[in-house]
Amino acid sequence: MHLLALSGSLRAGSFNTSALRALQKLAPGGVAVEFYEGIGALPHFNPDVEMSALPESVADLRWQVAAADGVVIACPEYAHGIPGAFKNALDWLVGCENFPGKPVMLINTAPRASHAQAQLAEILKTMSARMVPEAGVTVDLREADAMSTLQAGLAAFVDACRQAAGMALG
Ligand SMILES: Cc1cc2nc3c(=O)[nH]c(=O)nc-3n(C[C@H](O)[C@H](O)[C@H](O)COP(=O)(O)O)c2cc1C
Repeated sequence: MHLLALSGSLRAGSFNTSALRALQKLAPGGVAVEFYEGIGALPHFNPDVEMSALPESVADLRWQVAAADGVVIACPEYAHGIPGAFKNALDWLVGCENFPGKPVMLINTAPRASHAQAQLAEILKTMSARMVPEAGVTVDLREADAMSTLQAGLAAFVDACRQAAGMALG
């Protein structure tokens, strides 16, 4: 099984990116978590560009999403919203024909932040993602139980992705 990890933060010392990197190490045998590096390099979303010549970076993002059994998102809150760079990536994915039905796990690394998580849930629902609420976790990486919480969320997500794949195969 192949999962794609998307971080909403471009910061080098990002807690969200750290949580996704930790997930790569926690993944059980047979599960690979690939970290998508290109969020900050995507051009600003423009429907005219989408309709004419799709930028290579966008085509690559869409290809990586299509190839994944599920997508794991860890995203911070900026000014009670989701960071512009991450919303930009999601806007490019609205036109990705493989996104609807894709299982999505949400990681929140800031227990006091709720606005960005609510917005993410609404946006992803609008994009017809298959949200997996039982896999959603809120973790403070400075706390001792953070790794076990992430591991439990990942286990629930892997189960949901297997079920979704089974349903897709009929
Ligand atoms: C411009 C800016 C705005 C922020 N706004 C909020 C906010 O509205 N609510 C909140 O809980 N944290 C807010 N924060 C704190 C960040 O969410 C927090 O630093 C988080 O750890 C950033 O994610 P990262 O560690 O993955 O980079 C803000 C930080 C910045 C730089």
